[in-house]
Amino acid sequence: MPKTQPIRAARGVRDILPAERAAFAVAEHAAHESARRYGYQEVELPIIEPVELIERGVGRDSDVAGKELYRLEPHADGDAEAASRLVLRPEATASMVRAYFQGGLNQGPQPVRLFTVGQMFRHDKPQHLRYRQFVQFDVEVIGNPSPAYDVEVIELTWGWLEAMGIGQISLELNSIGDANCRPQYLDALREYYRPLRDRLHPECQRRVEENPLRLFDCKEPQCQPFKAAAPRITDHLCAPCAAAFEEVKSLLDAAGLEYRLNPYLVRGLDYYTRTVFEYQHESLGGAQNSLGGGGRYDGLAADLGYPDTPGVGFAGGVDRVAHMLQSELGAVTPPPAAEVLVLPMGEGLDRAAAGVGRACRGVRSTAVDYSARSLGAKMRAADKSGARWAAIMNADEAERRVVQLRDLVSGDQREVAWDQLPEALA
Ligand code: HAM
Repeated sequence: MPKTQPIRAARGVRDILPAERAAFAVAEHAAHESARRYGYQEVELPIIEPVELIERGVGRDSDVAGKELYRLEPHADGDAEAASRLVLRPEATASMVRAYFQGGLNQGPQPVRLFTVGQMFRHDKPQHLRYRQFVQFDVEVIGNPSPAYDVEVIELTWGWLEAMGIGQISLELNSIGDANCRPQYLDALREYYRPLRDRLHPECQRRVEENPLRLFDCKEPQCQPFKAAAPRITDHLCAPCAAAFEEVKSLLDAAGLEYRLNPYLVRGLDYYTRTVFEYQHESLGGAQNSLGGGGRYDGLAADLGYPDTPGVGFAGGVDRVAHMLQSELGAVTPPPAAEVLVLPMGEGLDRAAAGVGRACRGVRSTAVDYSARSLGAKMRAADKSGARWAAIMNADEAERRVVQLRDLVSGDQREVAWDQLPEALA
């Protein structure tokens, strides 16, 4: 009897086993290809960041910073860093802007186009397709306010989904104004909601004064009836924001990208200005229907203590995309662990079998079955593994430096000398 309970993974995190990893690899490869095609360069950013970066970036009142942050305990050696507490990053945009300045990318040609694929952490309630550790494909254009970049990011990321065969995506679009026009709009929103406060659920009652835009994020049934008559931000945009929104729509039309205007799309992070967008797919269902989203964040750099610098970007959920590729589209067949299995039959053949494996690996992925099972058992395992060839060898054949090379698909078998194997398998 084992002495302790078997140890399992932490709640809300999971192992990506080979079958699913193959779908991740497809999504990540397509991400790299799409980003490169548009001239975006890859960066790698730390997974731990100072808590201030996240709180000032995505906003203390957002769920992501307010409720879902994984905070690290200060290190026992009490170095200076312990004072500035560290968290596991819940998203990459604030880090990307930090890296842009810290690495001096703001000094070179502008704008700077960057992307990264990496793990994010949010202590959310675990549910289907909502994990506490997940992977995002993140793209950012920093250093230019033109709406043409908003549309470039949308086109790139739409292309990413399309390249993987994910169709019927719905692109939701909105503008949430900027520091110039949003305060007046928020006043109008508060005025509308104040008389309704008692009929909202407790969280939303608090939002009326503190963060009224978040009222649109609410999924509680009791709050839904009041949305339709609420003032719409798009009716309250200042002239420059309205012009930028018109330009985004007209450039999307020119690119042939269909979108749905959604006046309630506000996104869950506080740094957005002007354009916000999201890709939804009904097959994902419920609250987890977003494959990715993004928008413009012209005030973020200044919020982080850097010179005022505009930016726009997107993050896609790689776990959700991989799930779609695997279960909805059946588009990904994981490759076999090895294309060739070397099956030594009898004792004392390990050294010879390892040599045969080495010879085959020049042209094909190869594994050696060193177990002491019968030929029948080894052949059944080889068939199950999805390997294409078995290279079978007994002591006599090892002596003669040959194997019986069996094609596991056609069943054909022939004797092949070791030094002819690369040719036979090519
Ligand atoms: P976000 O909407 O918070 O945006 O996340 C983007 C995508 O990440 C979501 O649409 C979803 O597919 C995936 N995602 C988020 N949380 C989870 C989770 N718990 N489990 C699985 N997938 C998840 C951002 O993070 C912004 N940084 C996007 C951005 C970039 N805006 C400007 N630049």
